Amino acid sequence: MKLPGVVKIVEVGPRDGLQNEKNLVPTAVKIELINRLAATGLRAIEATSCVSPKWVPQMADNAAVMQGINRHPATAYAVLTPNLQGFDAAIQAGASEVAIFASASESFSRKNINCSIAESLKRFEPILSVASSLEIKVRGYVSCVVGCPYEGAIAAQQAAGVAKALFDMGCYEISLGDTLGVGIPDSIQRLIDACASVIPLAHLAGHYHDTYGMAIANIYASLQRGMAIFDTSIAGLGGCPYAPGASGNVASEDVVYLLAGLGIETGVDLAKLAAVGDWISSTINRPNGAKAGRAICASARP
Ligand code: HMG
Ligand code: MG
Repeated sequence: MKLPGVVKIVEVGPRDGLQNEKNLVPTAVKIELINRLAATGLRAIEATSCVSPKWVPQMADNAAVMQGINRHPATAYAVLTPNLQGFDAAIQAGASEVAIFASASESFSRKNINCSIAESLKRFEPILSVASSLEIKVRGYVSCVVGCPYEGAIAAQQAAGVAKALFDMGCYEISLGDTLGVGIPDSIQRLIDACASVIPLAHLAGHYHDTYGMAIANIYASLQRGMAIFDTSIAGLGGCPYAPGASGNVASEDVVYLLAGLGIETGVDLAKLAAVGDWISSTINRPNGAKAGRAICASARP
């Protein structure tokens, strides 16, 4: 199949990346990160989450982060939210859109949001209804689409069923989360085929963690299926607090390098992006997880 000509990158580093940092990252650093990311041309940034601060203390400063950022008029600043309480807080904080998250695995659903899959879908109904009346777009995640830390392999049909439920409820985009990063091109293509048989492909996004180093291969396999939306994390920051051992999302710099090489438009300035990855890695004292980012920065140094 012909590869897409344009790809939308959803930068999730400030949320999915930072939520897993053990030491509290100062609010001012989070704000500067989001501002620097928008300045690279990124037009979709998941800025923070309005979840229980007891569950994820790192995101407790969500309101201050949203208040402190300079809004680029063309950039959407999304906030992850698990329930109506979080949705209200996200809207109060000025979220351009919100994201809700369900799981393809019952056990992960319980560990992550303390309820069953069916209960979570029920919990999302009022969010979709209020969001629709406020004309706020809602993005839906499905976690553990390939594998679960507690249940092992997850059938593509199971993931597709949850994805369809979120889409039918009114989510405009469904992000398929390989939370554990256990997918390989074959399983990812099987997953996309199952999901695209119930949801138009243009509404599906790939959200691949890179635990086993397969994420770039999985993105290429997804491009071959025609997928054109990917979630990425600057410097490969992150992991999931409820998926022990999982590493961050595929690094934004590596994905933009791949897409630029393939002649696929993203609107993102790769050199600027690499500089942001270098800056945040040194600022929070963490190795830079972007291979392309490290190479670009090394070649730019005299
Ligand atoms: P619960 O304990 O069952 O909630 O947690 P509850 O409704 O019984 O409330 C308990 C307390 O939490 C109450 O406070 C509520 O006010 C408060 P208390 O009376 O005890 O002082 N509370 C909240 N506070 C702030 N914001 C809220 C909120 N809701 C309740 N929105 C709950 C249920 C869903 C709240 C909890 O499990 C939770 O917050 N979970 C979030 C976990 C999380 O953020 N995980 C990481 C993000 S998901 C992810 O990374 C995967 C993804 O990247 C895709 C992929 O990779 O697959 C998206
Ligand atoms: Mg994730």
